[in-house]
Amino acid sequence: MQRVLTGIQASGKPHLGNLLGAIEPAIQLSKVPNRESFLFIADLHSLTTIKNPAIMQDNTYSVAAAWLASGFDYKQNFIYRQSRLAGFHTELMWYLNCLTPFPMLANATSFKDKSENLSDVNAGLFTYPVLQAADILLYQSHLIPVGKDQSQHIEMTRDIGNKFNNTFEDIFVLPEAVINPDVMTIPGIDGRKMSKSLNNYIDVFLNEKALMKQIKGIVSDSKTLEEPKDVETDITFKIFSVVASNEEVSDLKQKYEAGNFGYGHAKKALFDVIWTRFEKQRILYNDYMNDLPELDKILKEGETRAFLIAEQTIQKVRIALGYA
Ligand code: ADP
Ligand code: TRP
Repeated sequence: MQRVLTGIQASGKPHLGNLLGAIEPAIQLSKVPNRESFLFIADLHSLTTIKNPAIMQDNTYSVAAAWLASGFDYKQNFIYRQSRLAGFHTELMWYLNCLTPFPMLANATSFKDKSENLSDVNAGLFTYPVLQAADILLYQSHLIPVGKDQSQHIEMTRDIGNKFNNTFEDIFVLPEAVINPDVMTIPGIDGRKMSKSLNNYIDVFLNEKALMKQIKGIVSDSKTLEEPKDVETDITFKIFSVVASNEEVSDLKQKYEAGNFGYGHAKKALFDVIWTRFEKQRILYNDYMNDLPELDKILKEGETRAFLIAEQTIQKVRIALGYA
């Protein structure tokens, strides 16, 4: 049995880019036979940037609800909050801290980026990759689906795990990153990469009116209704192409090229496709968000099962270190 593990920061409500670029591909990966998937909400990592408890909690629920609504099978797999197993995660992190060379952290690209762009450069940001290594090694995970920006963290996990195995006992599985080079970058309503931090995202879980308002905000050029439109540059068309079927895309292309078809019509077509494509997810997402006790129950169940696996690893580690 191969273990697939990934952590998602509690950084906000997942948008169309997250759904198509990360959530749906990871759920596909979890359906391969002989695999079990560990999906956790990396809310300890989020404390490096989020200092508001209500936001932390709301984001945690939104992330969990989005994954469950998108079809993550929580009975066959594991979904849990990292903070509920904080004892094991941070205990292992300490042991690994003592095996991590200082320059490895000082030279990490994500730390350099963050320390240039954030005003709150705390020690948590610096030791972030060691906590990530603990998250992975604790569950003896083989495959780690992540975005390109995370590949250095997985390399560091391998180095630190290897150092432990060589210094003490051969306990840890050394994981591999799974980075899908074909994953599309979904453009936002201003044409840049869709991102929470750029405030240019489409939230597919919104109600009809609010979703339409976001879609109406997509930037377009000033061609008249009569003029043919350019499918190579138009943002509405680009977003339409990643959510609609091939037939729908070629139909819209024809209309664009024929003229007498305005951006308002195209936006309505995009709205219809998103509204229908995510209908099931939207209903489920809202059901979960309106029933937090149910969401808590699912997360708690994952936490109870994950606890047993983490505990086994920690016991071995404590013995290897001479603490038990
Ligand atoms: P954001 O930029 O909105 O903060 P994150 O950095 O939290 O998103 O990304 C979470 C996951 O979603 C990552 O795996 C990332 O690669 C994927 N993702 C984010 N935005 C997009 C996008 N516009 N297109 C495709 N994938 C995306
Ligand atoms: N650092 C990851 C990110 O920012 C989140 C994360 C924390 C993670 N622990 C992990 C990802 C373990 C994969 C495995 O996206």
